[in-house]
Amino acid sequence: MTHTADTRPHDSSPTTLGDAWAESAHALAAASLDYGHGCASAEEEAAWLVLHAAGLPATEADRLDIHAAQPLTERQVRQIQQITAQRIASRQPLAYLLGEAWLAGLRFTVDPRVIVPRSFIAELLDQGALDPWLVAPPQRVLDMCTGSGCLAILAALAWEDAQVDAADLSPDALAVAQINRADYALQDRVRLIASDLWSAFAALPGEGYDLVLCNPPYVPTSSMQALPEEYRHEPALALAGGVDGMDLVRRFLREAPVHLAPHGVIVLEVGNERAAFEAAFPQLPAVWLETELHLEAVCLLLADDLRAAFAAGAAA
Ligand SMILES: C[S@@+](CC[C@H](N)C(=O)[O-])C[C@H]1O[C@@H](n2cnc3c(N)ncnc32)[C@H](O)[C@@H]1O
Repeated sequence: MTHTADTRPHDSSPTTLGDAWAESAHALAAASLDYGHGCASAEEEAAWLVLHAAGLPATEADRLDIHAAQPLTERQVRQIQQITAQRIASRQPLAYLLGEAWLAGLRFTVDPRVIVPRSFIAELLDQGALDPWLVAPPQRVLDMCTGSGCLAILAALAWEDAQVDAADLSPDALAVAQINRADYALQDRVRLIASDLWSAFAALPGEGYDLVLCNPPYVPTSSMQALPEEYRHEPALALAGGVDGMDLVRRFLREAPVHLAPHGVIVLEVGNERAAFEAAFPQLPAVWLETELHLEAVCLLLADDLRAAFAAGAAA
């Protein structure tokens, strides 16, 4: 978002979208909140909030100047003021207060049963970013640790012929994923699977996945204890990755080779934990993919490399 809110306090209640934005941004900025859930600043969050109240998609934040003069009803203004106050008092992510999150330009229903979608993998599922590593458009895709189902849905939309499986241990998360799958009418192409990582997969027929996406819990125990309040509203199951953050990654990668097609590819997010990943898998050749917001948060692994590395004892 390129515009700047006039965050000076106003004497009277706002009447336009632009004024309400300024008032909300001012209040949020004064409250020392954390903005790690899809927005980078008080201004961005306030923009999303006023657009939501006005019935506009968050993607319109780039054109806020066009909407700034739009009059708001008293009810809309009151809603904005109430949610702003709630955001400050409760420190809940705005996504939970609005019941929605936006990722790669798409809206997803969310509530505290799932982590707020913000995966760096999302931007790699568009515009051929993974093409250099795929032998063909993937037919069989798995989103392991799917949460709200956001990455599975983005993958299904990116590759229209693909059958996508989406697995999670949490029945709560799968219930939210089901809502999102229905919103995008993808019941025929996205299958939801309750599974502790690969445990349910032995019973499933399949020739192996061409592409496996995985944004697992990877926050190390020490960081869990220092997380800003906003993150404590999210399910700990979605975040906690054990002492070095790699508990789930170890289990996931160890068994992954048997579930991959011969030329299969894994795209794995580890956030800030590249060093922990490399310490855990010193022999594993990983390609670190550049994303807009983070240069080293996502790596790509090839099935052949995984098989060879594990045969040679890759894990530390
Ligand atoms: C970081 S969240 C990612 C959610 C979603 N893919 C996204 O990017 O927004 C991790 C997810 O892993 C799930 N999870 C945790 N432990 C798991 C396990 N052993 N097997 C499968 N899923 C697990 C959590 O329930 C959570 O939904």
